[in-house]
Amino acid sequence: MRNLLVTGGAGFIGSNFVHHVLAHTDMRVTVLDKLTYAGNRASLVDLPQDRFTFVEGDIANADTVDAVMSTADAVVHYAAESHNDNSLHDPAPFLQTNIVGTYTLLEAARRYSTRFHHVSTDEVYGDLPLEGGERFTEATPYNPSSPYSSTKAGSDMLVRAWVRSFGVQATISNCSNNYGPYQHVEKFIPRQITNIIDGQRPKIYGQGQNIRDWIHADDHSSAVLTILSKGVIGQTYLIGADGELGNRDVVERILAHMGQPDDAFDLVTDRAGHDLRYAIDPSKLRNELDWRPAFGDFDRGLEQTIEWYRANEAWWRPQKAAAEARYAAQGR
Ligand code: NAD
Ligand code: DAU
Repeated sequence: MRNLLVTGGAGFIGSNFVHHVLAHTDMRVTVLDKLTYAGNRASLVDLPQDRFTFVEGDIANADTVDAVMSTADAVVHYAAESHNDNSLHDPAPFLQTNIVGTYTLLEAARRYSTRFHHVSTDEVYGDLPLEGGERFTEATPYNPSSPYSSTKAGSDMLVRAWVRSFGVQATISNCSNNYGPYQHVEKFIPRQITNIIDGQRPKIYGQGQNIRDWIHADDHSSAVLTILSKGVIGQTYLIGADGELGNRDVVERILAHMGQPDDAFDLVTDRAGHDLRYAIDPSKLRNELDWRPAFGDFDRGLEQTIEWYRANEAWWRPQKAAAEARYAAQGR
């Protein structure tokens, strides 16, 4: 594989993946990204210009997609509307990008016989009880809760159907919650870090007992690269790094790293349909493809992430006021 097409490469995880691929392989990368409110061209600077091309465009536009797919050996599909809270207030863009966009890409991959990797989420499985050690596996039935996760579930089903009916050479991964550099300030960890930098208190939904399974975005990237090279066509792989933590615990750790008292947060209105707990069993990826995460220590990764937001205020500042205005309108 020499020419890789990355959709959504100006977003959080896509941009981390582009940096990872250009640093660790000799592949050429073309990014196709619509630059929605979540896309940031400044996440793709200082890259080797002889191996990197940026195309601004919509994955739901068949002509645009055809042009970039015609020269790609493989596509890694990250582009999506990704934020649960937004999906509860305006689901329409989620259906258009996550469903119609994925369909448009699959049809082009079918035309050009392009290897396809679909990046999805553990949220397609719904949630788990707070108590008990049950974890999601590749055999867990789909049971999505939100407009976001239901459109991601729909996109996974399209990929499975295009593999079976049309022989598209695709794999799927479902990953848990990512953290790291270049994440939009609407998301949980960057929102709290940048609130504290601004002298504002972190905001925790409900009582903060919800549990997420955190993985560093660079580990997600290495897992996707592993599946792209060694994954079995038609298979799904769950990606996780044994990072389960309660939301309140995460906020207390951020406060401690930033020199604030551990109770300097506010409890705010809960999210409608708020999933209780996510937890990934990554045995298949580890045992069959021999993948291991590099960021074993969440606190070390969190400290590095805090330092990144302190050092890169020019990157996030333009989005902060608009993100907080959206939250204020929702009472959060
Ligand atoms: P993000 O919102 O930060 O980035 C999404 C990117 O897609 C942006 O650059 C945006 O401009 C682009 N985009 C949106 N609509 C587009 C369209 N119609 N055409 C072209 N580009 C478009 O999202 P993220 O958090 O980086 O998530 C990326 C992918 O990973 C998504 O598919 C998401 O479902 C999946 N995922 C995310 C997480 C997580 O913790 N954030 C975990 C598992 C899976
Ligand atoms: O599990 C993977 C998913 O993780 C991805 O598919 C999604 O794209 C990604 O956004 C993320 O979804 P979550 O809804 O879990 O992430 P979010 O950052 O929005 O919230 C994380 C948790 O923190 C969740 O329980 C809600 C809570 N929260 C969030 C915000 C923004 C708060 O308590 N306060 C906040 O201010």
